[in-house]
Amino acid sequence: MGGARRLLVLLPLAALLLLATAAGATAGVTSGYRRKPEATADMPLDADVFRLPHGYNAPQQVHITLGDQTGTAMTVSWVTASEPGSNTVAYGRSPKKMEMSAQGTQTRYDYYNYTSGFIHHCTLTGLKHGVKYWYAMGFGHTVRTFSFTTPPKPGPDVPFKFGLIGDLGQTFDSNSTLSHYDANGGSAVLFVGDLSYADAYPLHDNNRWDSWARFVERSVAYQPWLWTAGNHELDYAPEIGEATPFKPFTHRYPTPFRASGSTEPLWYSVKIASAHVVVLSSYSAYGQYTPQWTWLDAELRRVDRKVTPWLVVLMHSPWYNSNGYHYMEGESMRVQFERWLVDAKVDLVLAGHVHSYERSHRFSNVAYDIINGKATPVRNLDAPMYINIGDGGNIEGIANNFTKPQPRYSAFREASFGHATLEIKNRTHAYYEWHRNHDGAKVVADSVWLINRYWMPTHDDSN
Ligand SMILES: *[C@@H]1O[C@H](CO)[C@@H](O)[C@H](O)[C@H]1NC(C)=O
Ligand SMILES: *[C@@H]1O[C@H](CO)[C@@H](O)[C@H](O)[C@H]1NC(C)=O
Ligand SMILES: *[C@@H]1O[C@H](CO)[C@@H](O)[C@H](O)[C@H]1NC(C)=O
Ligand SMILES: *[C@@H]1O[C@H](CO)[C@@H](O)[C@H](O)[C@H]1NC(C)=O
Ligand SMILES: [Fe+2]
Repeated sequence: MGGARRLLVLLPLAALLLLATAAGATAGVTSGYRRKPEATADMPLDADVFRLPHGYNAPQQVHITLGDQTGTAMTVSWVTASEPGSNTVAYGRSPKKMEMSAQGTQTRYDYYNYTSGFIHHCTLTGLKHGVKYWYAMGFGHTVRTFSFTTPPKPGPDVPFKFGLIGDLGQTFDSNSTLSHYDANGGSAVLFVGDLSYADAYPLHDNNRWDSWARFVERSVAYQPWLWTAGNHELDYAPEIGEATPFKPFTHRYPTPFRASGSTEPLWYSVKIASAHVVVLSSYSAYGQYTPQWTWLDAELRRVDRKVTPWLVVLMHSPWYNSNGYHYMEGESMRVQFERWLVDAKVDLVLAGHVHSYERSHRFSNVAYDIINGKATPVRNLDAPMYINIGDGGNIEGIANNFTKPQPRYSAFREASFGHATLEIKNRTHAYYEWHRNHDGAKVVADSVWLINRYWMPTHDDSN
């Protein structure tokens, strides 16, 4: 605790001073808020957040995600360290009466000289929307019980609050981000990639995948997180004989990809309350005719804005980002897909990767071809708002090298850690807030009312 506090001390410089770069409707803001630029350390392996549950072979690293497209199924995952144990999950509507049960599967994998524990996945089916369920796994003295509430049935005016987190890692800052999110109380997390940063360790020490899952259990065992793959999920290390991309990630973190007609766990969609959420993979092929391209083409046609008015797209590497860090890395995917997203009137694109916060106005850059020379982003009310929330607080530290001047598409940017929430109110209005981690205080540093692109397409909400 004391250590955490000391590490999170902020320089007392102009805490809320905002520097507007120019006058006028599109003037962007570069926040003058300063925090020390160096990364905080990863929490030590004996930190409280990594503690093992009591009992021999007790289920650990419990996490849930949607098991179908809308949440009438939930997939529960956990690890047993010493022996296979049971694959069964008991569940029901009261902790005293978990009368239903489901049978899961288990898997393990090797990574260089690391061998994982027994990784269990079990999908609970036949759930009702908007209902609290209790569930338990393990046996004898090691039974562990948790609960979750299924999302409400999709419909045009169904309020729902999402948490938006990216690039979390397992530092003291990561713990601060998760604590702030816990205090803000969303009902599901849209996670934009880069989970554990185990690959920052020699030989991609996969014990850090285990410790990360114990760290986030306090949230993700109780509400579904929807996963996006980031570059730190690749674990591609042919120099040590590990040439299968995404091996640890895909063994540990299932996604309900089949339910949305996808053929790979790395791209899929879900429908939660009034939102249709599309998850893309920045690190899988997306060129014309590839599986991801083919799927997205069909998927965008399946979206029914009369049922799910809010169309949100998740990816790891941002298309619009004015930080020097990872500059232009998302460019080839933007060129491939931006036209589709503008035509589909996507409300919001969420990305991570760049370890700072940035929100755009509604801009597009879709006029360009290789002869007309028109490569300038322009205001476009059909375009998504782009939000980069790669500011979860991982070991690589903050990205504090914004390009100058601030480009016209950039509405607000700040180099500090935090998370965001998206509160859908009804078919036309959603309230978005970005929360800066500020020494235990709950600080809202940026907010905007989103106006739906399908139902109110001419209303400019991006100031
Ligand atoms: C894996 O290899 C590394 C480097 O040789 C060594 O430090 C580590 O103890 C080994 N781990 C296991 C589980 O053998
Ligand atoms: C992490 O945060 C939780 C909740 O705020 C706190 O109880 C715990 O002590 C923190 N752990 C570390 C290592 O900072
Ligand atoms: C900051 O970003 C610019 C690109 O915008 C790059 O040329 C420069 O080297 C970066 N500086 C540092 C210190 O990373
Ligand atoms: C939608 O929600 C907004 C914000 O709460 C509210 O101002 C508006 O009246 C609502 N629209 C309808 C049709 O209820
Ligand atoms: Fe990344």
